[in-house]
Amino acid sequence: EKGGYDHFMLKEIYEQPRAIKDTYRGRLLADQGLVKMSGIEQNMEKFINANRIIIVACGTSWHAGLVAEYIFEDLARIPVEVEYASEFRYRNPVITDKDVLIAISQSGETADTLAAIKLAKEKGAFVFGVCNVVGSSIARETDAGAYTHAGPEIGVASTKAFTTQITVLTLMALRLAKAKGEFSETKYREYLTELETIPSKVEKSLESNALIEIIADVYKDSTNCLYLGRGYNFPVALEGALKLKEISYIHAEGYPAAEMKHGPIALIDEHMPVFVIATKKGHYEKVVSNIQEIKSRKGKIIAIVTEGDEQVRDLADHVIEVPETLESLTPLLTTIPLQLLSYHIAVMRGCNVDQPRNLAKSVTVE
Ligand code: M6R
Repeated sequence: EKGGYDHFMLKEIYEQPRAIKDTYRGRLLADQGLVKMSGIEQNMEKFINANRIIIVACGTSWHAGLVAEYIFEDLARIPVEVEYASEFRYRNPVITDKDVLIAISQSGETADTLAAIKLAKEKGAFVFGVCNVVGSSIARETDAGAYTHAGPEIGVASTKAFTTQITVLTLMALRLAKAKGEFSETKYREYLTELETIPSKVEKSLESNALIEIIADVYKDSTNCLYLGRGYNFPVALEGALKLKEISYIHAEGYPAAEMKHGPIALIDEHMPVFVIATKKGHYEKVVSNIQEIKSRKGKIIAIVTEGDEQVRDLADHVIEVPETLESLTPLLTTIPLQLLSYHIAVMRGCNVDQPRNLAKSVTVE
């Protein structure tokens, strides 16, 4: 049932090109220049007239929500707030019937996320679900929604659920951007065409597996790791750190790269591996200066870079390449090497990758 892979997690990492394709199939019609999502079409007015979108989720799904914040604000120009469901539900939040709440959950059974939905509904907000499990409690409780088509995710560490959540949320943002007239026809088509190339670019990113195994062997005995990224790749840094923590039991922290100088830089010495997402688009030059700061303090730099990058290669101890794409789509690629890295480190440390200690696949209690 693991399809020849040693663990479900590895199988699910490798399923991502297919899972992403299944998620946009029938929704992304690049040749016609269209995005079709019935849950959006039927509720277009609610989205377009929303004061803001509030996203609630937990764990990895919360990280997908953070990526969505960048996408929705950047492309569709709708204000977004991202909340931990557990905090949101207990802090008497200000919610009105002009708010749209998006709940993101792989399992559709997370207790805190479900409670946040009920609260928002009581206050009159329109609630939209992004779930993987068909017919799950959250899918039933929401007013409308869009499923991710990742297929069953068995490994406790979420992988393909994360990239398919980002895929759905990107499609939503694109559809809303179009409806709001934020995009020229040419720019819109460029996005759709590029999104269609993502599965093959994920495939390409998976080809670094052998190199990543070598890097994993170098850092497997670390006790602490830092993950840094900016912009769209800040949430990817958080997700990379979570993935390492939960399956290898190595302490890891994710930070926006610019926050380093406000504290974490004090931790950097020759024993500290720093995983930096430094892809070409966006804030590349700024990330390069962050890398220089780490290097001058003798930190070990493992950088995720765009194919053909030379500047970071000269500075870093290791580089892992991903194909070039639009900035807003980079999280779908930069996540892949970080998943593989935590997987190999956990395996080398003899950890139970698919069922890490103290964790459950669905967190049905608060
Ligand atoms: O099923 P959900 O997406 O609601 O689950 C949320 C979190 O419990 C989940 O993402 C958790 O953080 C994963 N183990 C992370 O890999």
